[in-house]
Amino acid sequence: MLSKSQFSTRLGHIKDFAEIKWGWEGNLLTQGKFTEGIKKGKQEFWVAETDNRIVGELHILWDSEDHEEANGVDRAYLCAFRTHSDFQSKGVGKLLMTRVLDRIISRGFKEVTICVEQDADELKTIYKKWGFNTFVKIKDVDLHNLNPDGSLKTFATAGELYLYKFE
Ligand SMILES: CC(C)(COP(=O)(O)OP(=O)(O)OC[C@H]1O[C@@H](n2cnc3c(N)ncnc32)[C@H](O)[C@@H]1OP(=O)(O)O)[C@@H](O)C(=O)NCCC(=O)NCCS
Repeated sequence: MLSKSQFSTRLGHIKDFAEIKWGWEGNLLTQGKFTEGIKKGKQEFWVAETDNRIVGELHILWDSEDHEEANGVDRAYLCAFRTHSDFQSKGVGKLLMTRVLDRIISRGFKEVTICVEQDADELKTIYKKWGFNTFVKIKDVDLHNLNPDGSLKTFATAGELYLYKFE
């Protein structure tokens, strides 16, 4: 079994998407949208690695058209948070989250939000423990996830937006 120290984090690069096929499951339209956002400096992502293999990713959006998610000034939004199924429950997610929160604070942001599906009780408990303890609102549509026809994806059981205020 791998120990936490065998994982490291770094800023993700657009070329890394080619290796994270397991995370995107052919959702190339959304990947293209994220690529554009990264090129424009509106978003970035961090990856976790072991043995030079990417096993986790977490994306930061500095701004969103929904300003309750992110406002480009002091509130950021997190999405596309996943650990490869072979590496879950080994501390990768927590390592990535810790690194990304540090990064957001270092840019002077004061708050961060994350969306979680309404029926994901275990995940909601974890996020709450990590600081995302203020419920903001229900979201039906995911503004950052596209269907193959270009329309916005809807959350399977509705999404709940949670806020973490630093300090
Ligand atoms: C959510 C996800 C990214 C977490 O990544 P991970 O690498 O498995 O997370 P970790 O191993 O760091 O565990 C995170 C926390 O959950 C707890 N945990 C992990 N596996 C658990 C399990 N099977 N049962 C209960 N708690 C568990 C850990 O103890 C840890 O809590 P801690 O902060 O007290 O240490 C991962 O499960 C995943 O990719 N899920 C599928 C995609 C998804 O749902 N993404 C979130 C979208 S909102």
